[in-house]
Amino acid sequence: MHIEKLTILGGVGKSGQPEPVAEISLKMGDVISVVGSTGSGKTTLVDDIALFADRNTPTQRQVLINGVPAPEEFTNDPSKNPVAFITQHTNFLSDLPVNEFLKIHAGIRRRDNISSVIEETIDFSNKLTGEPIDPENAMTELSGGQTRALLIADAVIIGNSPVILLDEIENAGIHRTKALELLRGYEKIFIFVTHDPRIALLSDFRVVMQNGAMVKIIEAHDGEAKVAEEIKKLDDMILHCRKLIRSGERLDEDIFKELR
Ligand SMILES: Nc1ncnc2c1ncn2[C@@H]1O[C@H](COP(=O)(O)OP(=O)(O)OP(=O)(O)O)[C@@H](O)[C@H]1O
Ligand SMILES: [Mg+2]
Repeated sequence: MHIEKLTILGGVGKSGQPEPVAEISLKMGDVISVVGSTGSGKTTLVDDIALFADRNTPTQRQVLINGVPAPEEFTNDPSKNPVAFITQHTNFLSDLPVNEFLKIHAGIRRRDNISSVIEETIDFSNKLTGEPIDPENAMTELSGGQTRALLIADAVIIGNSPVILLDEIENAGIHRTKALELLRGYEKIFIFVTHDPRIALLSDFRVVMQNGAMVKIIEAHDGEAKVAEEIKKLDDMILHCRKLIRSGERLDEDIFKELR
């Protein structure tokens, strides 16, 4: 099924009040963020999307694909499910080597040129994280950052999923601005649950959650892209310091002169 549009129809917040945002409509190519304090309902919102909620979850939201409820095959047949959900707590149970794991997935997805698809996936994953993956490594040996990066690459390239949900990638050692740039090269709907100002400001718009409800939609504007640029510089500085500290170096004030 070709997906053009995903619609979220509002339900109720935690105290049963109707959600201030009654409808959100997403088209292919949109990158949006979900923001809000801890416990405000961000994960619950993306869960509703992953479940194709049909007024049958505690939030009573409804998710429509191309204007109608999702066909049952989306939930019954994993290979037809258009949504890839990369959750907050992802651990692999499989101790297969990375390349074997990807090979099996590519086989299930009936992809041609399996070896080049695997190579592309690992390359893409390595662009997202600072720690390149050895394809011979077991899945269980990957770090948190490598795991997230591989799952994103797998969803984008092997799964070719049109809708990708990412629940808080920030703590996982992923190059955020780069990830966003790379992901924008693919015509998909990306929904980021995030506490990261860069991801939020570089999205097309953000949904603000409060007390379990979607309370506001904020469209990005040019000024925010400039703020994001400045944040990126600060963040790169911190990343650089972290890298030096991790590799056992000492830091002094000159480092800021070098970096500016
Ligand atoms: N609309 C709602 N109706 C009823 N319960 C809700 C609603 N939205 C969220 N909840 C409940 O509130 C709790 C917190 O929600 P959730 O885990 O989605 O928050 P979060 O914003 O993802 O938090 P964190 O930042 O800690 O990950 C959960 O138990 C969830 O089931
Ligand atoms: Mg959450």
